[in-house]
Amino acid sequence: MSARPDGTASAQRRPKSLWLGIALAVIGLLGLVLLSTFGARTGPGASFGPFGNNSAQSFGSLGERIFLSGTDATGSAIPRSTPSMYGMMFGQTGCASCHGRDGRGGAVGAMMGSFRTPDIRWSALTSDEGPDEGGHAHSAYDEASLARALRDGIDPEGDRLDAAMPQWRLTDGEIAALVGYLGSLR
Ligand code: HEC
Repeated sequence: MSARPDGTASAQRRPKSLWLGIALAVIGLLGLVLLSTFGARTGPGASFGPFGNNSAQSFGSLGERIFLSGTDATGSAIPRSTPSMYGMMFGQTGCASCHGRDGRGGAVGAMMGSFRTPDIRWSALTSDEGPDEGGHAHSAYDEASLARALRDGIDPEGDRLDAAMPQWRLTDGEIAALVGYLGSLR
């Protein structure tokens, strides 16, 4: 008889702290989703964030400019397909918005879900070590096969890349500049 009040009390306390924990985790996740959503908005027209300003002085090289902002040497957006939900929502952004500032790829959060992107540092693209965390197996890229992947969405194996990866109308000079920049990512 005397054991019951104690037992009841602790049985009530435990579920409460569990729910509090779940609520905190959900709030934390929502915060992360919002952060990644707004963090991805670095294209021309965005007025905030370190790369919101696309004036020439903001970039160390053409490769860096394309990688971070998706704009060409004159500051105009490089034409691309935008087949994915992500592309439609965020439009004109650079490689970094999906592959990360460090080029290592990872999870990209979009409002309708998320997807993973592969490591596109030149060291990773030129190795044929099989799938990385982004999950895309390929044999080693060179500049020509990179151009085909970027322009036509075809990897060195001849396989079609997922539609979440846009196809870009890049000049040979811009591809070379990108290769230089991807090579500088460690
Ligand atoms: C809207 C998101 C998005 C943007 C922007 C984007 N990519 Fe991708 N990219 C992807 C996804 C998703 C994949 C994986 C495709 C697959 O696995 O089939 C990918 C794949 C690739 C691959 C193939 C890698 C491999 O392992 O075969 C290369 C190379 C690449 N991207 C380079 C770039 C470059 C360079 C840019 C900027 C000019 C860029 N991407 C911009 C989403 C994006």
